[in-house]
Amino acid sequence: MGFDTLIVNGRVVTATDTYTSDVAISNGKVTAIGQGLPRENATKIIDAAGKYVLPGGIDVHTHLDMPFGGTKSADDFETGTRAAAFGGTTTLIDFAIQYKGQTLRTAFDAWMEKASGKAVADYSFHCIITDLPDAQLEEMNALVRDGVTSFKLFMAYPGVFMLDDGSIFKALRATAKNGGLVCMHAENGSAIDVIVQQALADGKKAPKYHALTRPTTAEAEATARAIALAEMAGAPVYIVHLSCNEALEKVREARDRGLPVYAETCPQYLYLSIENFDVPGFEGAKYVFTPPLREKWHQEKLWNGLKRDHLQVVSTDHCPFCFKEQKELGRDDFTKIPNGGPGIEHRMSLIYSGGVAQGRFSVNRFVELVSTTPAKLFGLYPRKGTIAAGSDADLVIFDPERKHTISAKTHHMRVDYSMFEGIQVTGMPDAVLSRGRVIVEADKFVGRAGAGEFLKRQLYSQQ
Ligand code: URP
Ligand code: ZN
Ligand code: ZN
Repeated sequence: MGFDTLIVNGRVVTATDTYTSDVAISNGKVTAIGQGLPRENATKIIDAAGKYVLPGGIDVHTHLDMPFGGTKSADDFETGTRAAAFGGTTTLIDFAIQYKGQTLRTAFDAWMEKASGKAVADYSFHCIITDLPDAQLEEMNALVRDGVTSFKLFMAYPGVFMLDDGSIFKALRATAKNGGLVCMHAENGSAIDVIVQQALADGKKAPKYHALTRPTTAEAEATARAIALAEMAGAPVYIVHLSCNEALEKVREARDRGLPVYAETCPQYLYLSIENFDVPGFEGAKYVFTPPLREKWHQEKLWNGLKRDHLQVVSTDHCPFCFKEQKELGRDDFTKIPNGGPGIEHRMSLIYSGGVAQGRFSVNRFVELVSTTPAKLFGLYPRKGTIAAGSDADLVIFDPERKHTISAKTHHMRVDYSMFEGIQVTGMPDAVLSRGRVIVEADKFVGRAGAGEFLKRQLYSQQ
């Protein structure tokens, strides 16, 4: 039997193993793994000698084409998934937003419309719930049956996204029954709003006050409350974009008690700090996202949390707004700066570089954090998140030695700055395959808009 593609001589890496092997692909799936697979009948051969063969990255937290603060995020599903692919990420889970008064189904349909015909690689959605009358509880069940098996709830942004504790508790109880997973934006939005109003009244309007008005205690308190509500509901909970040690401690304590509590962090919290606001003029707006940047000492605590499984996932929270015209909406008032930063492209290299190349954890742990655990928690495993016979051939030929200096001049995201400008990473993708098709090769995009498919996900499974 012939193969569509045969990857030869690479070091195959999964969350548990590293070994030299060939990987054969037919009809978009991995069909055989072994040494010395017959080359004669392969249509295409990729030589991966000296390289890692990794399962495609899975980024479970992105905001493409998302309306926010009077504008919308700068990458759509075509430019965003393409930039992700350049960085070795082949699956995204984005967020469909239910606005007040809408059904959850309306949100899902709207985001399906945004993505279809555009995405270059596979995608799925969480549903953001901003309004939860009892009628929507049955709709949560219906969405779960249709493969939207996770929901994001906000404890911040009062009047916009924030849900009250009663509604949060109801949603958690619903997922305890329907097998879904709640992703929580954990910050005490009501307290933060008081601090923000005081800052504005005192004339503190520069970008850095976005960070100075959102204390770590507000994140830790909400994280503890989210965990308590989930425990009372008998439901798992996943804390998104965890940024600081105080919140990490709440997650660690809950996990030590055996609760099904999980958390992700993002590269910006591992590489950047409040010192990034020490830039001239309005430049600090580039770092306005939520939760905000913290003091530098938190970074090592988060790296350690990744190593020791107190944190289980690295996502990006990619939510890009151009500095010119978009971030500038808040030139005179930090509360009007659209919240979010660009990061979809460099997650794999930043985490490999800081995690593996700098000796903090193994290459297997790296794969677990950026691909396998996201797949398991969000119902995509083993179709995605590993390299095994029968899995989708979403694969990355990754050069662990290749160095690259991140810059807006060379990145592929549709945004006019990089949060990580000038940072040199070690480890870059050489080629990227999505369901067996090469979509990035020799730094060129060779895929196709619309080739990505919507992924109906299975239920959350406890890890
Ligand atoms: O600032 C951020 N993180 N913007 C995106 C929305 C969110 O809260 O994840
Ligand atoms: Zn959030
Ligand atoms: Zn987000």
